[in-house]
Amino acid sequence: MTTLILGGTTEASQLAAALSEAGLPAILSYAGRTERPRPQPVPTRTGGFGGAEGLAAFLRERGIRRVIDATHPFAARISGNAVIACAATGIPLLALERLAWRPRPGDRWITVPDLPAAAALLSGPPQRVFLAIGRQHLAAFAGQPQHHYLLRLVDPPEGPLPLPDCAVEIARGPFDTAGDRALMQQHGITLIVAKNAGGSGAEAKLSAARDLSLPVILIDRPAIPARPVTASVAEALDWCHADLGV
Ligand SMILES: NC(=O)c1ccc[n+]([C@@H]2O[C@H](COP(=O)([O-])OP(=O)(O)OC[C@H]3O[C@@H](n4cnc5c(N)ncnc54)[C@H](OP(=O)(O)O)[C@@H]3O)[C@@H](O)[C@H]2O)c1
Repeated sequence: MTTLILGGTTEASQLAAALSEAGLPAILSYAGRTERPRPQPVPTRTGGFGGAEGLAAFLRERGIRRVIDATHPFAARISGNAVIACAATGIPLLALERLAWRPRPGDRWITVPDLPAAAALLSGPPQRVFLAIGRQHLAAFAGQPQHHYLLRLVDPPEGPLPLPDCAVEIARGPFDTAGDRALMQQHGITLIVAKNAGGSGAEAKLSAARDLSLPVILIDRPAIPARPVTASVAEALDWCHADLGV
């Protein structure tokens, strides 16, 4: 009966709440990247499974009936592992994934395929860069130390950061346009680097950049093996009900 939700996103939390409200058993899985995950109405577990094989073993041991991969669109490894593990065990898989952002009039986006391509575009005179990519991949920008970087992180950094000149803002979304506009003005930002995460909680930086006519280097999503996908929590809930014959 139990649904395994691969989480770490707002949508995963929304789905956990919906399943709990519907009386359907679920386990929400976290990688363990943030120190204080939000309280959840379903049981949670934390930490890697040990690759696709470890995930397949977990699915079998726990008698998991279906998997919903509600991880971040840039979490490509766990999503690939979920495809492999579900194929190996014959357990149905659905991805709950936000739609990618699309440019609107006034946007000054430069789209790049990955982090190294984004970093390569920063070779040039010093700028004041809002590097809105989270904590994990900051080292990709260590080769461009001439810039002042504004970082927005969920938890305070534990060790030294790989960027010599940076300001750190500790905050957890959702964010709003007025707040992000004020933040960018306060720090004199001239360029934004962001991932095309999609969704509403992190979109404010793009609308703020549009308002301020600032350029955005936007990193495309990584490729993930084909799997059924929905962007709707309600559809994901329907999918769970459907295979119960409800
Ligand atoms: N990447 C981002 O920009 C981003 C942004 C916001 C939130 N997140 C969230 O942060 C987590 C880690 O992201 P990532 O980019 O590091 O992922 P990743 O590169 O795809 O995953 C790396 C490894 O972390 C473990 N893992 C990832 N998500 C997991 C989950 N939900 N439950 C259990 N183990 C998990 C897996 O370890 P094993 O192979 O040992 O199973 C996986 O192989 C995800 O839950 C994601 O939703 C990521």
